[in-house]
Amino acid sequence: MNNTIAVCPGSFDPITFGHLDIISRSAKMFGKVIVVVMSNAAKKNSGSFTVEERVEMIKKSVVDIPNVEVDHFEGLLADYAKIKNAGAIIKGLRAVTDFEYEFQMALTNKKLNPDVETLFLTTSAENMYLSSSMVKQIASMGGDIKEFVPQAIHDDIVKRLRKEV
Ligand code: PNS
Repeated sequence: MNNTIAVCPGSFDPITFGHLDIISRSAKMFGKVIVVVMSNAAKKNSGSFTVEERVEMIKKSVVDIPNVEVDHFEGLLADYAKIKNAGAIIKGLRAVTDFEYEFQMALTNKKLNPDVETLFLTTSAENMYLSSSMVKQIASMGGDIKEFVPQAIHDDIVKRLRKEV
């Protein structure tokens, strides 16, 4: 698998330790990992950060992982994987609640691009409950998010979300 390019897609609004855990474990398994910010049709109007801001926050969070690139794409994940010649799409699975939706996407992506495999990594136990929306809710109400997001982006998130209250 070491020669294979893997894609880690997501909304990353914003990136959390949960995402970072999946990205760093993927980087140990693949030659190159491309983290790509994409739009989720179900979350279309609920973004707190622009695509450019999300990309910047991911870049700040992965500076120590040399084989990780960060990108964004407006379009189908299956097409993006084809353009980048990626052999794998990596997703993190937290709980049973994620499963049906992820399963549906994996099967659809396989239909659209038979050359790409979707692989699921089990989220580590401490990130089981973690989500970007939870982090945003906590930050907007003045709670402490230090344990949930990388230090390099902590202040960017707090600054933005406190303004939204
Ligand atoms: O972090 P998320 O919101 O769970 O990520 C979901 C995402 C962005 C990976 C998914 O919505 C996606 O792949 N969007 C790109 C458009 C696409 O390919 N849609 C069809 C998937 S079956």
